[in-house]
Amino acid sequence: MRFYPYKLACLLAFGCFVSVTWIKSIPSDEGSTVMPDLQILYKRLLVAEELGGQVSQDLSSILEQLRNLSKTGNDTYLYSVHNRTGFKVSVVLGIPTVKRDKQSYLVNTLSSLLFSLTSSQCQDLLIIVFVAETNLDYVNSVAETIMKNFPKEVQSGLLEVISPSQYYYPDFTSLKETFGDSKERVKWRTKQNLDFSFLMLYAQDKGTFYVQLEDDVVAKSGYYDEMKAYATNEASKPWLYLEFSQLGFIGKLFRTRDLPMIAEFFLMFHRDKPIDWLLDHILWVKVCNPEKDDKHCTEQKALLKQRYKPSLFQHVGLHSSLPGKLQHLKDKDFGKQTLYKAHNNPPAEVSSTLKHYQTHSLKSAYEGRDFFWAITPLQGDYILFNFSQPVYTSGYLFRSGNIETNGDKFFNTTVEVLPSSVLARHKVAIPHYRESGNGFIIVGEFVNGLAEGKIEAALQPVSALRLVVHSDSDVWALLSEILIKV
Ligand SMILES: *[C@@H]1O[C@H](CO)[C@@H](O)[C@H](O)[C@H]1NC(C)=O
Ligand SMILES: *[C@@H]1O[C@H](CO)[C@@H](O)[C@H](O)[C@H]1NC(C)=O
Ligand SMILES: *[C@@H]1O[C@H](CO)[C@@H](O)[C@H](O)[C@H]1NC(C)=O
Ligand SMILES: *[C@@H]1O[C@H](CO)[C@@H](O)[C@H](O)[C@H]1NC(C)=O
Ligand SMILES: *[C@@H]1O[C@H](CO)[C@@H](O)[C@H](O)[C@H]1NC(C)=O
Repeated sequence: MRFYPYKLACLLAFGCFVSVTWIKSIPSDEGSTVMPDLQILYKRLLVAEELGGQVSQDLSSILEQLRNLSKTGNDTYLYSVHNRTGFKVSVVLGIPTVKRDKQSYLVNTLSSLLFSLTSSQCQDLLIIVFVAETNLDYVNSVAETIMKNFPKEVQSGLLEVISPSQYYYPDFTSLKETFGDSKERVKWRTKQNLDFSFLMLYAQDKGTFYVQLEDDVVAKSGYYDEMKAYATNEASKPWLYLEFSQLGFIGKLFRTRDLPMIAEFFLMFHRDKPIDWLLDHILWVKVCNPEKDDKHCTEQKALLKQRYKPSLFQHVGLHSSLPGKLQHLKDKDFGKQTLYKAHNNPPAEVSSTLKHYQTHSLKSAYEGRDFFWAITPLQGDYILFNFSQPVYTSGYLFRSGNIETNGDKFFNTTVEVLPSSVLARHKVAIPHYRESGNGFIIVGEFVNGLAEGKIEAALQPVSALRLVVHSDSDVWALLSEILIKV
């Protein structure tokens, strides 16, 4: 029995490369080199099936789907430039996502995960979005949304989008209703088992650690280093998983080498129980002795899982992926994270045409007490810092978005200074400066939500600095860091 599902695991993972659809280039000969191997695997699998004698019905049906897959050659749809093949990262994040009737949180979730990453961390991380839907139009729309929002990350291979073939899923209409769950819920939890298994098997050879996430979370700033350091530090201990959130299946970290075993287990019982119960059963199977008491079992199981505090991921979705279900669960150990960075800025009178949301005013952001959060900027909107006295400032930094609301950036927005001396205003002959209205000179602009730069001596001292929005935005705008260097 052990041998048998292992082959299945190989096959599933292998199947992922049978047919790939690329957004960019499509090396079409990839499938043909893989197919013969796949056939051999099937043959071995059939032998294993005979040797194994009685095979569970569930596994048989998955096997049948896999056979069907090989016939059609239609398997995973993979959207990625994929130039990281054969290269292992330290941490792989797996995010299954499904179509929701209500709000989608996927872009926010990805923004949050990407927000605080340094470039070396990006090199050592892979984020896989698994679109667990078979409607190709829908899958394409998700892939396009991701391409549009994160072109650089997809280009660099940091972000991958995959989706299963329509043949991956069994007929969900014949499921037995158990544990008082409705037909809809049984279908949902069964599909979730299949989805998580697929993703785990796909991810198993891509890194050292695998972290299961969901598509409606926010991350804590610095989560990557904390996770990696803890996992590395605890590497010699016998845990099966580390928990970086206490909720459901969010933030569970596994060694990728354990993934085939875990996915096999999920696949074997995918119709029987929800995935978090199955995970607990794995622990039970591994360490509990039926001849000993519950206390012994609990103690032994505790050795296989370790909780990290504080939690590094928080659940944000209100609408569950199960239609109609509201999901209010929040992780109490996540705590509050600071969503802005404070600086000592020179005294100034601040004003803006932008309307702030709730208490997130510009003044409190400038004084380092909060972030500034404004309702959708339109062309011509501005933010003005009118210094009480002209200041000599070597440079500036404006960061828009924060780890929970990273999408709310400034787009097409310039940084402009008003030199206090009229003479200096005429120095715009300096080639890289352009004049704006009212004597202001453009010194920089927002790129990817960040504006950072120096202000040349020729323009000093400056009596005011402003940000000017040049086109209507689709989203709100948030400033989480304001720094005027003096
Ligand atoms: C596999 O394909 C056959 C015919 O090609 C079909 O009858 C069968 O239902 C398929 N099985 C599954 C599980 O999709
Ligand atoms: C693969 O899938 C596409 C899109 O669903 C379909 O049009 C095509 O016929 C399939 N190919 C095979 C060989 O079944
Ligand atoms: C992948 O390729 C793109 C351009 O094709 C390049 O910019 C990027 O650095 C590459 N990434 C890796 C990890 O090799
Ligand atoms: C800055 O404030 C002073 C004093 O209120 C005012 O005279 C000046 O016009 C303001 N500057 C700008 C650019 O609005
Ligand atoms: C920025 O705004 C200007 C003026 O409205 C417009 O001409 C330009 O195309 C915009 N640039 C971008 C990148 O949207």
